[in-house]
Amino acid sequence: MSFKDKLIENKVPKHVAIIMDGNGRWAAQFGNERTFGHEHGVEAVRSVVEGAGEIGVKYLTLYAFSTENWARPKDEVDALMGLLVQAISDETDELQKSNVRLQVIGDVKSLPQHVQEKLSWSIDRLKTCTGLTLVLALSYSSKWEILEAVKRIAEQVKLGKLEPSDIDTDLMDCFLNTSEMPDPELLIRTSGECRISNFLLWQIAYSELYFTPKLWPDFRKEDLFEAICDFQNRERRFGKTSQQLIS
Ligand code: IPE
Ligand code: IPE
Ligand code: MG
Repeated sequence: MSFKDKLIENKVPKHVAIIMDGNGRWAAQFGNERTFGHEHGVEAVRSVVEGAGEIGVKYLTLYAFSTENWARPKDEVDALMGLLVQAISDETDELQKSNVRLQVIGDVKSLPQHVQEKLSWSIDRLKTCTGLTLVLALSYSSKWEILEAVKRIAEQVKLGKLEPSDIDTDLMDCFLNTSEMPDPELLIRTSGECRISNFLLWQIAYSELYFTPKLWPDFRKEDLFEAICDFQNRERRFGKTSQQLIS
């Protein structure tokens, strides 16, 4: 029985977030450059987007490039940006056929102009799609996102449009890049690293975390289904006792 067959339909998470890690190590196994791993990472993205759509996930957020990743060698950063533009050009038609909408979170303005233009083009093409929303985290870091939100809230307070007492969890949610989506119920990280690396710190306050040793270019939809099966077998207590959940 495949993991897909084991899934409980009405317990599929609405939002799954993935830290796609391990491309460099995957390439090194074959004595290749890190970029070779990034190229093969695109196949994993294709499979996971397809799988998420098949089982009715509403939001799939992929951590594709962090604020910290700007510190990588220029050649690697350029290759990643080139690959992103290429993948968007190649995949937008297919995404449209699959009814997938595209969204970006992160400091988009810090991306090269041609990357911003390609993203806007694709987002616009896919804006009427109503199936899965694919969210790419690009030039993203959670501390950046939270600081931006705090600055904008402070501005509103200064202008007298908000009172400090208005600031609560719901308001904070509204000022984040993720304002229109539910928090991820499940966060997956590949490559065996057990850290969050500045990803969605606010939004994963109560997410279930799933770490797999698989390197990102080897990850496929069946691995996503396995992670979701694992998630479905967990008891999410939100501070309550098990007893309270039964009664
Ligand atoms: C993830 O793979 C891709 C990005 C962070 C852009 P890595 O490039 O981090 O690969 P490893 O972790 O060095 O193997
Ligand atoms: C996290 O991976 C960022 C992305 C997957 C885009 P990294 O490989 O950059 O993370 P660290 O630096 O090892 O924690
Ligand atoms: Mg890494």
